Amino acid sequence: MKRRVPGTVHRRRGGPLPPVDAQLPPLAYGPGEKIPLVGTYLKVRRTIVDPIGLAVESQRRFGDVFTLHVPFTFKLTYLTGRDGYRAVLGLPPDHGTIEPILGQLPTVGFWFRRLRTDTKSLQELALAGRKLMAGLVSGPRLAQLDEVLTGVLRSRLSTWDNRTVDLASEIPSLLYEAGGRFVCGNTFWDEAGGELAGLYWRIADGITVPRAALAATPAGRFMPEFRATRRLEQVLTTLIRSERHRHNSLIRAIRSVTVAGSAISEADVPWMLMYVLFNVTTYPGSYGIWTLIDVVSHPDVLALARARSGSDQRRAFLADCLDETIRIYPVGLLARGLTKPLLYESAGRRYFVPAGHVVAALPYAINRNESEYHDAERYAPQSRQHERPAALFGRGAFGCVAASFTRALISGMLDMLLTEFELDLCDPVPARHCRVALPYPSRPLRAVARLRAGSRG
Ligand code: HEM
Repeated sequence: MKRRVPGTVHRRRGGPLPPVDAQLPPLAYGPGEKIPLVGTYLKVRRTIVDPIGLAVESQRRFGDVFTLHVPFTFKLTYLTGRDGYRAVLGLPPDHGTIEPILGQLPTVGFWFRRLRTDTKSLQELALAGRKLMAGLVSGPRLAQLDEVLTGVLRSRLSTWDNRTVDLASEIPSLLYEAGGRFVCGNTFWDEAGGELAGLYWRIADGITVPRAALAATPAGRFMPEFRATRRLEQVLTTLIRSERHRHNSLIRAIRSVTVAGSAISEADVPWMLMYVLFNVTTYPGSYGIWTLIDVVSHPDVLALARARSGSDQRRAFLADCLDETIRIYPVGLLARGLTKPLLYESAGRRYFVPAGHVVAALPYAINRNESEYHDAERYAPQSRQHERPAALFGRGAFGCVAASFTRALISGMLDMLLTEFELDLCDPVPARHCRVALPYPSRPLRAVARLRAGSRG
């Protein structure tokens, strides 16, 4: 038998052995999953249909650290709990990369053309994009957000009084427009915003595990998201080349970006524009509609929002409402591909996670931990102030750069909407599932909008 030397790795049946003082995380499996073939089918099905449920159940059965062997892809090791969250998201980008995740997203990862096709260059572009976006949505620029919001709402809400509106499509569309105008400017959005919003909607609505899996097969070419991506590429490339937008500040900012120390290639400018708009529209669109649904469908919360005196106070409370919406339905998968092994300690045990595994945090379980959040499943933004901050916007090298912007955008829009209108829901609130990526309501949510007494109209 081979002798193990602490800190070294031996290979056995293709897998590395941990050092003597550490152990590999237990391999999690569900009922029937050990049966050859049938087990593989069951596991693939579960991973595709309900990946978050699978992780939560595995945590209950196998403890805070466990590995899921996702057939045909990678080994996914969950480090659950707050320490796991810190460990996963605290990895530097050369140790924990987002390549395996980003590379599997159809539009961002492999459909929208770039100069190169490898995932390393994709991560470099994403990191450069993150830095660019941090500058676009912070600092003195944030002061212009209200003007943009007021402009968008004034023109779009003028026809709402006494009408039945489908909130599930109207609200994301308002937020797409506000985010789009904020980063691209009015001339650009006036020319192409309507079409861009429709394309991004189609793409974002398709971000689910089953569709991402289908996208990677030859059948992907027949998916509506594929056609939307091709059209998006065309529209953005035309805008970038157009004389009319030669001085557009966003396009100029993109051209001055450096990627891994060199100037961005002209061939990557459309991708970067796509990426900025993707982030600035699709995330607020999804979380904005669900925050509104949560507030309107909880009369006690709506009353508390309206009782706040003055816009600043109302917005602060509505920003808490957004946080509460994210707390209960956080971004489902926060994961990194390991380029080197990782040693991790939990509950007195040392775990060795080999290079090549994907490590993931589980914000869903952190945010619903009954020992930290009173009545954790309940939507109660008014009672969370003294509880621990939830896992909302990530942290570390790939943490969100737009938390303040998003809070200001969504709370500002909800404040204006709820101050002007009474919204009486006609349909039951659609079911929501915590998915890996952005969930949108799966069917219309009609509401009758009426101007409130005393509103400006
Ligand atoms: C409610 C809305 C939003 C939520 C819940 C959210 C959440 C998150 C989370 C959890 C991460 C960490 C991802 C990881 O560690 O793998 C992240 C990263 C990031 N977010 Fe946000 N975000 C939102 C809105 C936005 C907006 C509006 C923008 C852009 C203006 C943005 C830009 C980014 C960027 C650039 C990253 C870095 C990682 C990447 O490139 O994907 N986010 N966000």
